[in-house]
Amino acid sequence: MKSNSKKQIEGYKDHIKEIEVFRKYGVERTLEKGQVLDGINALHPKSIDLKVSRVIKETLTTSTLRLVSKNGYLPPFQAGQYINLFMEINGIRTSRPYSISSAPNQTGYYDVTVRRVKDGFVSPYLIDQIQVGNSLSSTSPTGNFYYNPLFHGKDLVFLAGGSGITPFMSMIREVTDRGLDRQIHLIYGSRKEDDIVFHEELADRSSYADQIKLSHVISEPSPEYSGAKGFITKESIQELAGDIAQKTFYICGPPEMSTFVSKALQDLAVPGRRTRKEIFGPPVNITQQPGWPETVKSKDQFEIILNGGKAIKAAAGEPLMNSLERSGVVIPATCRSGECSLCRTKVLKGKVYQPQGVKLRKSDQKYNYIHPCMAYPIEDLELLV
Ligand SMILES: Cc1cc2nc3c(=O)[nH]c(=O)nc-3n(C[C@H](O)[C@H](O)[C@H](O)COP(=O)(O)OP(=O)(O)OC[C@H]3O[C@@H](n4cnc5c(N)ncnc54)[C@H](O)[C@@H]3O)c2cc1C
Ligand code: FES
Repeated sequence: MKSNSKKQIEGYKDHIKEIEVFRKYGVERTLEKGQVLDGINALHPKSIDLKVSRVIKETLTTSTLRLVSKNGYLPPFQAGQYINLFMEINGIRTSRPYSISSAPNQTGYYDVTVRRVKDGFVSPYLIDQIQVGNSLSSTSPTGNFYYNPLFHGKDLVFLAGGSGITPFMSMIREVTDRGLDRQIHLIYGSRKEDDIVFHEELADRSSYADQIKLSHVISEPSPEYSGAKGFITKESIQELAGDIAQKTFYICGPPEMSTFVSKALQDLAVPGRRTRKEIFGPPVNITQQPGWPETVKSKDQFEIILNGGKAIKAAAGEPLMNSLERSGVVIPATCRSGECSLCRTKVLKGKVYQPQGVKLRKSDQKYNYIHPCMAYPIEDLELLV
């Protein structure tokens, strides 16, 4: 707009006068520049330096690490969120996400509760090697697996498998500590009775808090066990949860359990909008996932050329990110489950397999971007990293 025509606007001169008065007598705001950014950084720091203040042995295979902040401050989180823990093991820099199992209403520490995965790289290290006083670093809390009062109602059913109890423990601790108006029925699947994590605390909280109902389902029970047996199936959900109308279902556990239980909820006609999911880690055997090419075996090795130069080897049966990390290439990562897009990487040549549930944007598919945390090589590849 030309300055002459601006002057035709009603009140223009008054506004100019007002601006001049503000410039002369108004509050000096330039000093406050950066304060908003400081606020954001306090709530969502790029990384947190942590120290282990306590190790709690929960079961034969599971331990809780209590983590305190080295600078005394931990960002707040929502019950159900996770942190991605960074560590260096035998010279390999890697990370794994762990849900926070402590309640968000206490701000002194984050608990992470780790179950040993057979032949796993990180979980045995955290359980066997990490001790009180050791340092770790992490991302700030993140993830979308938390209660939303607008959409989830007040009647919730939590379907947990094994280590998948951890985000639910945080939610149950918060609801019972704060006396929140929410009904929770936890249906918790474990292999044996002594595999149940937080067994006593769950029993205790459900005994004094009307909001919590507890059902265990055991797949390999002892002869003395008299509760529900087998896996969490359509039938056991129906029997234990009763009338499912209006209830919101949360599922958390290993990929195989999540697929099985999601199918059970579909069979019970629970609408997708009333089902929330958090999947723990990559499938144990990727070659058994739908769409995996029959000719490619888990142990097959492919050559990966990085930025047109260095070549590394990668096994088909393992997420590409692991092979990259072993060769010293660390790609930023948070979820390591194909959801957050942080590890987005361009493929110049060759094909990968990405299981269902990996959230690729349409543009990623069009321009050949992958999420190496959940991409498996099925041919020789060239990547831009
Ligand atoms: C959001 C989120 C929250 C989580 N929270 C928790 C939690 O609270 N507690 C918890 O215990 N876990 C949690 N996990 C899982 C956790 O992040 C790790 O995946 C888990 O601890 C296993 O890590 P690992 O390094 O021991 O196993 P990995 O080494 O990553 O192995 C995982 C699986 O892949 C297989 N595998 C590895 N290498 C190969 C190969 N070369 N060929 C074929 N197969 C291979 C292994 O046998 C194993 O079955 C969470 C995961 C996510 C995504
Ligand atoms: S780390 Fe989140 S998509 Fe790969």
